[in-house]
Parts: sequence; structure tokens; C-alpha cells
Amino acid sequence: MISENEIKKKICETSLKISRDYKNKKLILIGILKGSFIFLSDLSRKISIDHEIDFIAASSYKGTSSTRELKITKDIELDINNKDVLLVEDIVDTGNTMSALIDLFKAFRPNSIKVCSLIDKHERREVSIKVNYSCFSLEKGFIVGYGLDYNEKYRHLPAIYDLKL
Ligand code: IMP
Ligand code: MG
Repeated sequence: MISENEIKKKICETSLKISRDYKNKKLILIGILKGSFIFLSDLSRKISIDHEIDFIAASSYKGTSSTRELKITKDIELDINNKDVLLVEDIVDTGNTMSALIDLFKAFRPNSIKVCSLIDKHERREVSIKVNYSCFSLEKGFIVGYGLDYNEKYRHLPAIYDLKL
């Protein structure tokens, strides 16, 4: 559905915007594991300004249906107080994961919190959240590859594929 080249091109554009917007700020990228690991590593290497990197493992998913419960299995390790947090996600679907994470991180009083998602998927959105940087927009469907999985499979695929169930 989305080729390696298209992904590469969009990541260059997005990281350019981020490098401009966060100039003179204390940027910290927080990747939501596991889905964002490939996206974050490519994005980070194209960002031209200094930044810190951390990860949180959180999921609200089983198979293709959201359980709505946020489970944190690995917390961040860096201090985000007074930093400019950019949450890096593979795909925002219902929005439940992202909105719960934003609420959680707000408690540590960062300077700002914004969202960068490889894919912004609209059909099943339940909570209105602002995706500040999104590489691709998707109306509906279930996709895999480039970090995105179906029951832990297909994350390694270099491009993005539509999963026919
Ligand atoms: P949300 O809380 O419903 O927004 O859940 C977002 C999470 O669901 C993402 O981080 C993915 O792990 C997973 N997810 C949602 N849609 C897809 C998809 O099309 N492919 C793979 N994972 C998905
Ligand atoms: Mg995920």
C-alpha cells in the first residue's frame, strides 16, 4: 500500500518540519513500543537538531480489536520536566492510547507535548486528539509492516501492506 520510497520521502519532509519547529527547544522523542521502533529510528536520523530519545511500552490492543485498557509494561527513564515532548507512534486509531499517554505525561510538567504518527487512521476515532505531525492518512483498514504488526507478525516488512483478513 505504501512503498519504501514513499515512506522515506515523507519521513524526510516530516523530520525537516520537526527540526525547524523545535529549533532552540529541548526536544525529546518518546517512542511508543513496539510499533514505533523502525519509524523512530528513521525519523531520528533525519532530524538535524539535538534531541533525546526514550521509549515507553504501552498497548491497548489484542488482535484487531481495541480493549481500551492501557497497559504500561515499560516506563520512560529520562526526566521530561521542562522538555518538549514529541510522542512518536506508528498509528493512531481510536485515539485511546495516545490520549491516555498525553494525560500521563502532563503530570510531569513538560514544556510541551505533541504527537507524531506515521499513520493517522480516521474511521474508528473515539477520542478527539490532535496529531501534530502525520506522514500518512488512512480512512480505514488494517495495515502491517514497517513496525506495524498483526499478532506480532510482519513488523520487519520494509513497506506497508494492507492485511486481508
Ligand atoms: P488506539 O488506542 O486505538 O489509537 O490504538 C493504536 C494502536 O493500535 C497502535 O499503536 C497499534 O499498535 C494498533 N493498531 C491500530 N490500527 C492498526 C493497524 O491498522 N495495524 C497495526 N496496528 C494497529
Ligand atoms: Mg502500537
